Amino acid sequence: TQAPVNVTVTGAAGQIGYALLFRIASGQLLGPDTPVKLRLLEIPQAVKAAEGTAMELDDGAFPLLSGIDIFDDPKQAFSGTNIALLVGARPRTKGMERGDLLEANGGIFKPQGEAINAGAADDIRVLVVGNPANTNALIAKSHAPDVPADRFTAMTRLDHNRALAQLSKKLDVPVSDIKRLAIWGNHSATQYPMITHGTVGGKNLAEAVNDQTWVEETFIPTVAKRGAAIIEARGLSSAASAASAAIDHVYTWVNGTDEGDWTSAAVISDGSYGVPEGLISSFPVTAKDGKYEIVQGLEIDDFSRTRIDATVGELAEERDAVQKLGLI
Ligand code: NAI
Repeated sequence: TQAPVNVTVTGAAGQIGYALLFRIASGQLLGPDTPVKLRLLEIPQAVKAAEGTAMELDDGAFPLLSGIDIFDDPKQAFSGTNIALLVGARPRTKGMERGDLLEANGGIFKPQGEAINAGAADDIRVLVVGNPANTNALIAKSHAPDVPADRFTAMTRLDHNRALAQLSKKLDVPVSDIKRLAIWGNHSATQYPMITHGTVGGKNLAEAVNDQTWVEETFIPTVAKRGAAIIEARGLSSAASAASAAIDHVYTWVNGTDEGDWTSAAVISDGSYGVPEGLISSFPVTAKDGKYEIVQGLEIDDFSRTRIDATVGELAEERDAVQKLGLI
C-alpha cells in the first residue's frame, strides 16, 4: 500500500465536517487503495467537539484511516498537507453587510493561505467550501504566492449535482445518462447552470428538454435557490449533500473525468470566455493527470452570454471589494 495522504479539514466540528470526515475515512475521497491521515482545524472553542468527532472516527475502525490530529493553529494544521478542504467560514449573521462578511472571512482565509504557502506539501490541492467560496479561495490564493494558482479551487460541484438531479427528474432518466452539464460563475444565486452543450443518452440535452420556459422559470431558479429551499425544509443548511459534492470534487480532480464528459468546478480563470483573468469562477472542466482544465472552444449563445456576464460581474465586484479592504 501507499504512504498515507495528509488531508486537512477546517471547520471539522461543523455540520459539513461531521458528514465529510466519515466519507474521507472510508476511502471515498481518494479511492480504496489510498490510506489517509486526517488533520482537523477548528477554532479553540470547538476543539473539544472536534475531539468528539475524532473519537467517533476511531470507533468507525476504518482500515484506511491511519491517524487523526487536531489543531487550533493553521500553521500546524497545514504543515505537510496534500489536500486541504477549507470548510470553516464565518456565516452571514443578521444585519451584516457584504463588506463585513468579506472582511470577517478575510480574517480566516488570509492566515490559512499564508499557512498553506509556508508549510503544505508540494502537491497541495485546495478546495474551498466555506462561503463566499469563490472569493474566499481568491483570498487564500493571493496569500500563497509560492503555490501554483491552479491548486486553489472553490466548490460548485453541489450546484452541478443539484442540476443533474433536476434534469434527471424532468427527463425521467438516471443521473448517469446526463453528460456535459456546466455551472458557470459564482456559487451564489447568480450562478448559471448551462444545458446547451449537454447530452442525454448521446442526444443534445437542451433538445431533449425542449422547454425553454421550464429552463428559465423553473430549472435555473430551482438550482440557484436550492440552498435556501433546504434551509426552509430542514431548518439547517445543506450538509451531507455539500460533503458529498466535496468528495466528488476531489475524487474527480485526482482520478480524472470520463472521456468525453465534463464536470463543474470554480478554478482560476485564464481569461477564457471573457471571464477576467485571475477570478476564481466556475467553468465546465475536465480533469486529467491531477489537473483541472477549462473546456475550451464552446459556442456561447446570447442567453448564456447574458447569464455568464451577470454572475462573473458579481465575482468581479467581490474581488474589487476585497481588494479595497486590502485582503488580496
Ligand atoms: P457550521 O457552522 O456547522 O460549521 C462551521 C465550522 O467552522 C464550525 O465548527 C466553526 O467553529 C468552524 N470554523 C469557523 N472559523 C474557523 C477557522 N478560522 N478555522 C477553522 N474552523 C473554523 O457550518 P457548515 O454547515 O458545516 O458549513 C460550512 C461552510 O460551508 C459555510 O460557510 C457554508 O455556507 C458553506 N457551504 C458551502 C457550500 C458550497 O456548495 N460551496 C454548500 C453548503 C455550505
